Amino acid sequence: MSVTGSTILPPSADELSGLSVKEIRTMDFSRVVGYTNEPNMPSGGAATVRRLLQLAGPLRPGLPLLEVGSNTGYTSIELASWTQHQVYGIDVNPLSNRFAAAKAARTGIDNVTFKQGDGMGGLPFPDGTFGLVFVSNVTSFMDDHAKARDEYYRVVAPLGVLASAPIYYRTTPPAAVVDAVSSAIGVTLPVTSLEYWKDLFSHPDATLIAEEAYQYERQTDERIASYLDRVMAQPHLLTAPAPIVAALRERLGEFYRLFDENLSYAGYSILVNRLHHPNPEPVLHTTRLATAPAVR
Ligand SMILES: C[S@@+](CC[C@H](N)C(=O)[O-])C[C@H]1O[C@@H](n2cnc3c(N)ncnc32)[C@H](O)[C@@H]1O
Repeated sequence: MSVTGSTILPPSADELSGLSVKEIRTMDFSRVVGYTNEPNMPSGGAATVRRLLQLAGPLRPGLPLLEVGSNTGYTSIELASWTQHQVYGIDVNPLSNRFAAAKAARTGIDNVTFKQGDGMGGLPFPDGTFGLVFVSNVTSFMDDHAKARDEYYRVVAPLGVLASAPIYYRTTPPAAVVDAVSSAIGVTLPVTSLEYWKDLFSHPDATLIAEEAYQYERQTDERIASYLDRVMAQPHLLTAPAPIVAALRERLGEFYRLFDENLSYAGYSILVNRLHHPNPEPVLHTTRLATAPAVR
């Protein structure tokens, strides 16, 4: 990858020329993401970010927001684009942070900062800093989920929220699929349930104020191909050698099809837990949105 001052990425056509087709055929997902500049978005994409902001309610004024596991910046940049708050994206991988910073600069979003840190006990912030901490598909990548949860809550301010969008299985996946995804992402994929995550993110001083469950739709070959067309239409890929670009496209397509199969057994939920919520008691007379009464 080239580094020129603080500007980096996407990789130049020259750098891509240095790869071999054979090497690309066995590359893991995160390296292919790096070379293709694949967006790496949260489950549900930008709609999830907008929805979690709605579910979290008005945020405490003046307090910054944090995303843990910001990768190449999609979610943190999206968060920053919808609010006036300062947003921090934290990732253990310094290269991801440089990708993310370059992307923010390209998009002109200036209220987001990317820093290196460890969500599992090493977030570089004092206690109670943030009005909102968001964790999407990141905790699964850590060895000690409870330690990560404690670290997330440590940096949430009183009356602030911990919002999460964990992926879990709705039905038991075939072991071969879990193994294939584990090897694609380089981490043993935990087979978890919604209850596991609700329990994990619970806290003696926090109230679950919102919960929405989603399931994934199966993608057609045509849809995957048209998404690949978009990713591969980036300028750095248009000018790279054709066999390298074809091999990257082929490898990315293999991952997309594998993830699509895996996600057909899975779902995700947006969970919002609020610290020191003043009215934690459940509603007795529960309500739901009414249809308009018939006009007589
Ligand atoms: C699948 S990506 C997350 C993508 C995206 N942010 C999302 O919305 O789901 C997982 C990211 O978590 C990061 N990560 C893994 N362990 C971490 C840790 N202990 N602390 C911070 N980031 C971590 C990885 O480097 C990677 O960039």
